[in-house]
Amino acid sequence: MSDLHTLSEIILEDVNLNFVEKDIYSVYSIGDSPGAYDGIGASTIYDRVACNRFYNCLMWGYSIKEYATLCEDRLASSSEGWVLDLACGSLAFTSEIYANCSNRPVVFLDQSLNLLRKGKSRLEKLKGSISENMFFLHADALRLPFKDNIFNTVISLNLLHCIDDVKTALKEIKRVLTDGGNSAITTLVQSNRWSNRYLSMLAGPGALFSRSFDELLYTFNDLEMQVTHKIQGNLAFIKYR
Ligand SMILES: C[S@@+](CC[C@H](N)C(=O)[O-])C[C@H]1O[C@@H](n2cnc3c(N)ncnc32)[C@H](O)[C@@H]1O
Repeated sequence: MSDLHTLSEIILEDVNLNFVEKDIYSVYSIGDSPGAYDGIGASTIYDRVACNRFYNCLMWGYSIKEYATLCEDRLASSSEGWVLDLACGSLAFTSEIYANCSNRPVVFLDQSLNLLRKGKSRLEKLKGSISENMFFLHADALRLPFKDNIFNTVISLNLLHCIDDVKTALKEIKRVLTDGGNSAITTLVQSNRWSNRYLSMLAGPGALFSRSFDELLYTFNDLEMQVTHKIQGNLAFIKYR
């Protein structure tokens, strides 16, 4: 079971953590869940459809295996130090990698309690129980409840295309990273594939935000975050340090 005392050490002093259930804590009042994925059926549709390997391969032109490789690479980038999985969702792509990570403390943060519960249950199935150095935290990526310079690694898969205010999210990542820390980010971007039209269609009613990689790069540069990247289909894989 997660050790609350360990988690408290990295949390800002003016933030109260509420106990939701074993291994899950929240910065919100109990019963409060502002996450869009907590609407009826939304987390199930996300988990079953949007995380499906055929859907991602056909629609967005990349292989979901890339997530495991990226996550494994970042976890191996240091033998110690805190890891933040920012907007972890249900750990649909990475639970097996985390199940084998025993040396580094990890915070899985998301604004959807339903997806955090699914993620926790995935990890429990693989590991038997949640280790004392793993924490599920219900909180806002735009207002991280952590002290500065805490995480050696921040992994954030597919958050940026879900939020309008990318600059604040990136500022927060930069703030909570240690000086030598590193981050890996993925996000859907426009490409010259046919699926651009589908991306715009989803962006219309606000299901996600359609951006070019250059738009994102402008924000990284503005924040003096020098990044490297590759693009596969509509997915940008971005590394900061
Ligand atoms: C497209 S899903 C990606 C989930 C997971 N990382 C993955 O790749 O499967 C986007 C996630 O961002 C979360 N999210 C959206 N806005 C958020 C915010 N402001 N703070 C924290 N999480 C947020 C959603 O709840 C959802 O789990």
